[in-house]
Amino acid sequence: MNNLQETAVSKTLTTHWIGRRYEYYAAVGSTNDLLKSRIADGLAENSAAGTVVLTDFQSQGRGRLQRRWQAPPETSLLLSILFRPNWESDRMAWLTMLAGLAVVDAVRSVTGLAVALKWPNDVVWVRDGAWHKLCGLLLESNIGGDGRRETAVLGIGLNVNIPASQMPQGDTPPTSLLIATGKPVSRLLLLTELLQHLENRYEHASQGESPRAAWNKKLVTIGQQVQVRMVANQEALYGTAEDTDEFGRLLVRDGNGRFHPVSAGDVTLRSR
Ligand code: BTN
Repeated sequence: MNNLQETAVSKTLTTHWIGRRYEYYAAVGSTNDLLKSRIADGLAENSAAGTVVLTDFQSQGRGRLQRRWQAPPETSLLLSILFRPNWESDRMAWLTMLAGLAVVDAVRSVTGLAVALKWPNDVVWVRDGAWHKLCGLLLESNIGGDGRRETAVLGIGLNVNIPASQMPQGDTPPTSLLIATGKPVSRLLLLTELLQHLENRYEHASQGESPRAAWNKKLVTIGQQVQVRMVANQEALYGTAEDTDEFGRLLVRDGNGRFHPVSAGDVTLRSR
């Protein structure tokens, strides 16, 4: 059931276009890097939208902010998807919103587990009020399309069957669906559900329907006291995460009532 090679996936897939072009590799450096090099080689015509590159192991898996993304072989979903959205390029964060929501949908439909989102790009399992990271998303856009429409690569790393003894370390304590549900989960089923939910949500967004309201509802970050560590300068901003905007920025109100739109940074709960 856990065979993610092309024959098994193409038989199970229910989508119209996402994953209909599918490349499986037993091991690669990084699926984002591989897909980007395929784009550089000319893959990015319209017909290539929805191309999925998936692997069972990454030796150079990357996260945001130069972090590494690690998973033991054949335990996870590690994939990248090519998009050519028809919406404004300043709304590229919609892709992260859609993918986060699709992961939440897929996890719910395959395992029954209710999971949530942590701004800007994590899917978390909330246990006794603490956030445990299940999945990270890595969006890289404007990467050598034909200049008319933006090309975006969306990387998804979802911890599926990693036992606690093999769990890599991470900033937000990582977990897996195996740990959260107590049972191994079919990666094939999860993949096909994920791609179907993503396609459905993407189609709505293509009609101009913003995913932001749905995203906000699932964001555990909203209403929290947060500390935002800026990447550019080391100064931390303290405040309440009150909302997001259409560009995917977090709106943080500081102690003086001033709102700060935060687009690049890392949010952690403020220590009390
Ligand atoms: C993060 O949490 O900072 C994002 C992690 C993204 C990991 C995925 S795994 C598939 C794809 N290839 C990569 O090198 N990274 C993404």
